[in-house]
Amino acid sequence: MEIRQARPEDAREVSGVISELDTREYGYSDIGHVMDYIRRGRYYVLCENGAVVGAMALKPVEGSCQIYTIASRRKGGGRALVEYAIQKCRKEGVPKLWCWSMAHYKAKGFYGKLGFEEQYLLKKQWLGMDCFFFGKVID
Ligand SMILES: CC(C)(COP(=O)(O)OP(=O)(O)OC[C@H]1O[C@@H](n2cnc3c(N)ncnc32)[C@H](O)[C@@H]1OP(=O)(O)O)[C@@H](O)C(=O)NCCC(=O)NCCS
Repeated sequence: MEIRQARPEDAREVSGVISELDTREYGYSDIGHVMDYIRRGRYYVLCENGAVVGAMALKPVEGSCQIYTIASRRKGGGRALVEYAIQKCRKEGVPKLWCWSMAHYKAKGFYGKLGFEEQYLLKKQWLGMDCFFFGKVID
């Protein structure tokens, strides 16, 4: 498996993988939205035998780095993508990696395993849904 920056021709596959995150109210997999993020250089893909099996969008926010979306269809892919983001932050001197995660994704254990020590539940935080904030200081 390899991780690389996504290209416009990956958009449909990225959209398929990311559709895991869609809610009734919001479509992260919307192809226009995915393409916009790819063109801004924000999407990274995890590939296996030439196929996209995982994807992650990173968004710079006021000197920190937000994991905007992440999904993996291969065990170990989630860790590989987050470790890629950590390395990227380290290389660029970005001191913080963080994300919002809707409670129904049940991703608390995943971020805990990856060393996100800051974990807060904000009730009805986004479109009336409970969301976790997960944060990690990059040292
Ligand atoms: C969450 C997700 C990205 C994790 O990817 P993954 O490839 O399954 O994760 P990994 O196998 O790399 O897991 C890393 C570690 O976290 C653990 N883990 C993974 N998902 C977990 C979960 N939901 N709860 C508890 N622990 C979890 C793994 O067991 C593994 O532990 P280990 O290192 O001791 O073996 C993936 O399940 C997914 O795409 N889910 C749907 C989309 C989603 O919810 N994304 C998160 C939005 S914030």
